[in-house]
Amino acid sequence: AKLNTLAKAKGKLYFGSATDNPELTNTAYVAILSDSTTFGQITPGNSMKWDATEPTQGQFSWTGADQIVNLATTNGQVLRGHNCVWHNQLPSWVSSGSFTSAQLTSIIQNHCSTLVGHYKGQIYSWDVVNEPFNDDGTWRTDVFYNTLGTDYIQIALNAARSADPAAKLYINDYNIEYPGAKSTAMQSLVKTLKAASVPLDGIGLQSHFIVGSVPSTSSLESNMNAFVALGVEVAITELDIRMTLPTTPTLLAQQKTDYTSVISACQAVDQCVGITIWDWTDKYSWVPSTFSGQGAALPWDENFQKKPAYDGIAIGFGN
Ligand code: G3I
Repeated sequence: AKLNTLAKAKGKLYFGSATDNPELTNTAYVAILSDSTTFGQITPGNSMKWDATEPTQGQFSWTGADQIVNLATTNGQVLRGHNCVWHNQLPSWVSSGSFTSAQLTSIIQNHCSTLVGHYKGQIYSWDVVNEPFNDDGTWRTDVFYNTLGTDYIQIALNAARSADPAAKLYINDYNIEYPGAKSTAMQSLVKTLKAASVPLDGIGLQSHFIVGSVPSTSSLESNMNAFVALGVEVAITELDIRMTLPTTPTLLAQQKTDYTSVISACQAVDQCVGITIWDWTDKYSWVPSTFSGQGAALPWDENFQKKPAYDGIAIGFGN
């Protein structure tokens, strides 16, 4: 069976993939992406980010994001919005601006409410805040934190809630998928926000993993349960499992096992609502351009052929 069909049969809302606009000129790619029995959900990998949507202050550009939203809607696929506030891929007017706290508050409010409002009623969940923490659990000192302290989190979440009351609001990060200082910091943030009645519905576990070094199913599962116990849902939002190239049958077999481990953890937690891979083919993965000599992180190879990892995902869903 196809992966989204399996996910839904097992109680998940979706199995999905990120995609990006340049890839949509490849008709063979689009044909596979558009199969909603395989991918029930789409995340735009770049085109909803701040540099794409508000490159100049107050001037919004929707071309790339609309293309992906329209494709997903035509295909009957759920959407995750990615993202409102992130330190990376900011236009320079934001990243190098010098703002008072009042100015930056209204800049965040305008950006998040315009972005979320543009897609009102069309998005299942938004990564309202992306990657607020350093790996040691301290706050990332970007323009938002440096100007507003932790207040920027609630400013963004409140703006998003007002703009689309039906959308689930998430904070999304990496290296919070397993117990440790960074996950503990995120749990503390969830507690603080919940205690202050700030709108927050979910935590996104990015899950950019390494073949042979994936956290155990039990540690992934207990970490998800720790978030769920605080009153939020969780989702695996950017899954990929990279290896040092070249691929070998041994590495591909280990990758299959590793995909099964991750899917099994989400499968075991009812409030883990869905799984998104960070694109589906090695042809369009972000990994090789960021980690020299590494890649092959996705369940389909560069020629769109299914790898053992595909079966590993199906096994994780219990098939
Ligand atoms: O848009 C420019 C284009 O004009 C220029 O010609 C080209 C030349 O390199 O670069 C293009 O920008 C690239 C952009 O993707 C759009 O394709 C950037 O160089 C490149 O760095 C950027 O990479 C993206 C990365 O985020 C940036 O941090 C990846 O595609 C995207 O998959 C990745 O996604 C992130 C999530 O948002 C957050 N979590 C981690 C994840 C992986 O890094």
